[in-house]
Amino acid sequence: MVTILAIRPHLPYDGSRLALRRKDDRVNVELARLTERERYKVMAGLVVPRPIAWVTSVDAAGSVNLAPYSFFQVMATVECHIGLGISNHEDGRRKDTLAAIEATGEFVVNLCTVDFAETVDRSSAEFPPGHSEAQLLGVELADSTSVRVPRVAAAPASLECRLVQIMPMGASEWWVVGRVTHAVISDAIMNARMHVDYQAYRPLGRLVATKYVDTRHIFSVNGARGLEPLLGSADS
Ligand SMILES: Cc1cc2nc3c(=O)[nH]c(=O)nc-3n(C[C@H](O)[C@H](O)[C@H](O)COP(=O)(O)O)c2cc1C
Repeated sequence: MVTILAIRPHLPYDGSRLALRRKDDRVNVELARLTERERYKVMAGLVVPRPIAWVTSVDAAGSVNLAPYSFFQVMATVECHIGLGISNHEDGRRKDTLAAIEATGEFVVNLCTVDFAETVDRSSAEFPPGHSEAQLLGVELADSTSVRVPRVAAAPASLECRLVQIMPMGASEWWVVGRVTHAVISDAIMNARMHVDYQAYRPLGRLVATKYVDTRHIFSVNGARGLEPLLGSADS
């Protein structure tokens, strides 16, 4: 299941094609001078690891769609909101997830363990319209509590969401804001005090392309708390 990455020799990006500024050991990249692909490589390659939203949605004809999205974050927790960054396909078509969320106003963000890595990656393939990725990949679904969109039955946690807003991010990308109405959480990953057991959860993180990370190596620091005697109590 897990591929060990070969280490390639490291050649610094020289930027000579773009006459970019170099100083010491750094290249100063003006993003507007890069191609779209290069901008993606800079942004998606550097802002890592990203959590993965394995999104279920239902299209206007009632068929269930399943696809991974790693431009994904929690945006607020007093009134719980999450955000998803969805780009159009290269030929300009909107992705099925965006069309379905727009049509129904509902979706479910299923969170993933490393065990799902292979299936998560496969679910990003373009399946012919009307074919359910979940069915073709053998991913079992279960009814949700507050939305008509089903969740992934084996996901360690699923966030049931209602659409709040779809914001354009330029001409070909969209930021989807959803309000989380219910969280369905497996007993295996959270205890009675609502502490998450990360050894049991083992969330899958995305680097770029086919590279993923396993969050197995976890450590604690005493950073800000160590300053409490000096500063008074610190926010965590
Ligand atoms: C791990 C992973 C993360 C991805 N993240 C995103 C993302 O954040 N935004 C995006 O537009 N596409 C992303 N993709 C690509 C989509 O999953 C892919 O375009 C998929 O076919 C969309 O399916 P849909 O048309 O059923 O929504 C990702 C792919 C993978 C494998």
